[in-house]
Amino acid sequence: MLTTIKDVAAHVGQEVKLGGWLYNKRSSGKIQFLQLRDGTGFIQGVLVKSQVAPEVWEDASKLTQESSLYVTGTVRQDDRAPSGFELDVKHVEIIQVAEEYPITKKEHGVDFLMDHRHLWLRTPRQRAILTIRAEIIRAIQEFLDQQGFTLVDPPVLTPSSCEGTTNLFHTKYFDEDAFLTQSGQLYMEAAAMALRNVYSFGPTFRAEKSKTRRHLIEFWMIEPEMAFVEHEQSLEIQEQMLSYVVQQVLKNCERELKTLDRDISKLEKVQAPFPRITYDEAVELLHREGFTDFKWGEDFGAPHETKIAESFDKPVFITHYPTEIKAFYMKPDPNRPEVVLCADLIAPEGYGEIIGGSQRIDDPALMEERYAAHNLPLEAYQWYLDLRKYGSVPHSGFGLGLERTVAWICGLDHVRETIPFPRMLNRLYP
Ligand code: 4AD
Ligand code: MG
Repeated sequence: MLTTIKDVAAHVGQEVKLGGWLYNKRSSGKIQFLQLRDGTGFIQGVLVKSQVAPEVWEDASKLTQESSLYVTGTVRQDDRAPSGFELDVKHVEIIQVAEEYPITKKEHGVDFLMDHRHLWLRTPRQRAILTIRAEIIRAIQEFLDQQGFTLVDPPVLTPSSCEGTTNLFHTKYFDEDAFLTQSGQLYMEAAAMALRNVYSFGPTFRAEKSKTRRHLIEFWMIEPEMAFVEHEQSLEIQEQMLSYVVQQVLKNCERELKTLDRDISKLEKVQAPFPRITYDEAVELLHREGFTDFKWGEDFGAPHETKIAESFDKPVFITHYPTEIKAFYMKPDPNRPEVVLCADLIAPEGYGEIIGGSQRIDDPALMEERYAAHNLPLEAYQWYLDLRKYGSVPHSGFGLGLERTVAWICGLDHVRETIPFPRMLNRLYP
């Protein structure tokens, strides 16, 4: 039976057999230091020439970077070792001597690494990021499940758009036109009227010609939708959810955050409640901070979001955006219909918008007006209007972009490393 590296602590002083890969090797002539990884962690194996059979020494000498092997040895506690343990190697069984490995210790350009993404994933850094990504997903689902939300899966192939028609991925559905989903929201509203508090978690697609460190073509979104929940209460759920997620990552991914050199003092501050400012206040802030020609009615770009976020050490909600620049389904503020009951949550440290959400229009007549204003064909959106005709209730929801959240929590400068195989403007391989 194989032991795994993450479990060696339970085997100090005992002989174990590991299955893994040689990550790196150093040799002094009399000792070989084998840097081993097995997918669960990293450990150094120490092979002393005078203490093993000559064939074992010979076999170990043949191992190239990323060769696969079984290795048998005794676990020794070693406080100097990064993992806290070393393996005194007794035996080595080669599975395959790897061909010359393209990713070496030297610096590689990002395009080269992206072309070798299938291999790049093996490094400690990428392993740490994907582990934290999984922990973020787990914590979000745990939070929502504990709050009584039901997971509902919206379709990926859709006949019409949710977030506007400009960045849809077109495909054919036999003889009909179809699109890859931009957001499951409209379907989640139908589900909320059936199950009350629901959420989806799945891939979404934006055919945006954006080439920034925040944009992916295919990204994953968590979209809660809540019946009888109004704007303010939705913000409370968002801040509680995100605080929970950050605290869980701090608790369960200490080692991975260390691998990434993340400044965790910044994450420790992420506790609800989060500050809220209106779009109007954000515009004033920008004017004070030197963005003097920013005009009311324009949307914020990355530099604006970064500047606004700098004033806070927690994520900040920007609420009440102009109705004109937001999606057709957002409910206008009854006291001031030129703005909508919405909020974008802006992450600290320049990571930009990680959540977009709003209260939804619940009045059928107003919804029909919005269809007309946005040139949305009634046939395609009839079913969505039905939700307002048969027992309409106030309801709200939001979408959290997983990759931007991972980038922020991990402290990465680009979203491309937050997803195993990123789909970007100029990248569909591997
Ligand atoms: O603000 P967005 O477009 O909102 C919606 O899609 C709503 N229908 C959600 C809802 O209310 N159910 O997208 C939500 C989030 C953004 O805040 C951002 O984090 C992420 O999705 N996002 C992207 N992430 C990576 N690459 C892109 N191209 C993204 N576009 C949006
Ligand atoms: Mg948005």
